[in-house]
Amino acid sequence: MIRINIALLGLGTVGQGVYELWLRHRERLREKVGVDLEIKKILVRDISKRRNIGVPDEKITVNFEEICQDRDISIVCELMGGIEPAKTYIRRLLEAGKQVVTANKAVLAEYGGEIFELATKRGAYLGFEASVGGGIPVIKILREALIGNRVESILGIINGTTNYILTRMLENNLSFERALEEAKQRGYAEADPTLDLTGLDSAHKISILASLAFGVFIPSHRIYVEGINEIDLMDLKFAKQFGYIVKLLAEARESRKGFEIRVYPALLPENHILTSIRLNYNAIYIKGDFVGDVLLYGLGAGKEPTASAVMSDIVSAVEYLRFNKFPLIKYPLREDKDLRLVSVKDSVFRYYFRFSVVDRPGVLSKISGVLGNHGISISSVVQIGRQIRKGAVPIVMLTHETREEQVVKALEEIDQLDIVKAKTKRLRIFE
Ligand code: NAP
Ligand code: HSE
Repeated sequence: MIRINIALLGLGTVGQGVYELWLRHRERLREKVGVDLEIKKILVRDISKRRNIGVPDEKITVNFEEICQDRDISIVCELMGGIEPAKTYIRRLLEAGKQVVTANKAVLAEYGGEIFELATKRGAYLGFEASVGGGIPVIKILREALIGNRVESILGIINGTTNYILTRMLENNLSFERALEEAKQRGYAEADPTLDLTGLDSAHKISILASLAFGVFIPSHRIYVEGINEIDLMDLKFAKQFGYIVKLLAEARESRKGFEIRVYPALLPENHILTSIRLNYNAIYIKGDFVGDVLLYGLGAGKEPTASAVMSDIVSAVEYLRFNKFPLIKYPLREDKDLRLVSVKDSVFRYYFRFSVVDRPGVLSKISGVLGNHGISISSVVQIGRQIRKGAVPIVMLTHETREEQVVKALEEIDQLDIVKAKTKRLRIFE
């Protein structure tokens, strides 16, 4: 039987998951694929780290050249994360004639254009199924199964860490910090969790999905991003009282005005299907002009689901090596300098506002006066509780549809009023 040697760059959450999957399913894969896969080498940063997964010492190295220059290694999985040295290693491996698999959405979302171009030039396989949606096979579905469609829109919950935090806060009254700590311990968070919290990880992923869907490379720095780092438990609870659940959404659509691609926390009506996506689950809603609606759901972070996606790419790389069988669909290489992205300021939403104000007569009329001057119409309002000593009370308002630009101007003005004690919280409502 043919043996194909693989190397892993990284033995953290994902690397360990891939190693464990390989140990457990080597025989099964041998039967199904007809090839014996051998993990020959694993690159780590710190060789002295205790890892408890029983990898023989001779497989572990801190020398990238041992992998890159080994002619017997055909497939290399980059599972380190970060931009450098990951980007340089991916380039070096492609240049050395290796087939490359990566779980690294950050590097693809910023440098995908040049990496895809190099892979195409070298005629190499470049798999990135694990870069979006953990175990959900969304890349293969977008690139292959939905090729007959013009993708109209994508709406997703595509960050497991933030979805886990929002769920645990609302359902179990956990503080933000405690819920984040749990997400880190479970291996969902990035090495730098601010990427998750600020929405950047979701921006990396929607950049990849939008680039595949629309056929033009859309780097993540062009995407509007807001995270969940300023969300209070209070907002999750008030939203629920109004019949909404807060989720971190990633959205991409092509309209007559251009591409609307953004990441933001939003209030979703409780009967919206995405409100049932809890904990580290992800879901991606794709609308195609022929297929209609497709909803993909599964575990979006963690070592086992991500390892499942990496192994799917390893087997695709084997198929490519053995039969030169590679999806015809091209990578989104072209970075369009004139890319028309619609500014969020020009978009129209309904809004949730939470004002922190002193509790005295006339406060509400001052606020609604400013909103009225900016053409913002209120659909509901509640004051929750009474002022205790010198503190502030929250007043929560929902608005009718309004252009974002008006909202920004009105809130700037309101936050200057002497009755307002803290910056107003503002969330969009998705309907
Ligand atoms: P991680 O737990 O931090 O592991 C990173 C691994 O890479 C560690 O083994 C580390 O070595 C090694 N490494 C880092 N920099 C290195 C360098 N310069 N040279 C050699 N080795 C280096 O990260 P992870 O959670 O497994 O994530 C890996 C990648 O998968 C990231 O791109 C992430 O975005 C992506 N991803 C993660 C998940 C998830 O649920 N965690 C899901 C999908 C995709 P040491 O062990 O010696 O420190
Ligand atoms: N940190 C990422 C998340 C890992 O929480 O979704 C999966 O890409």
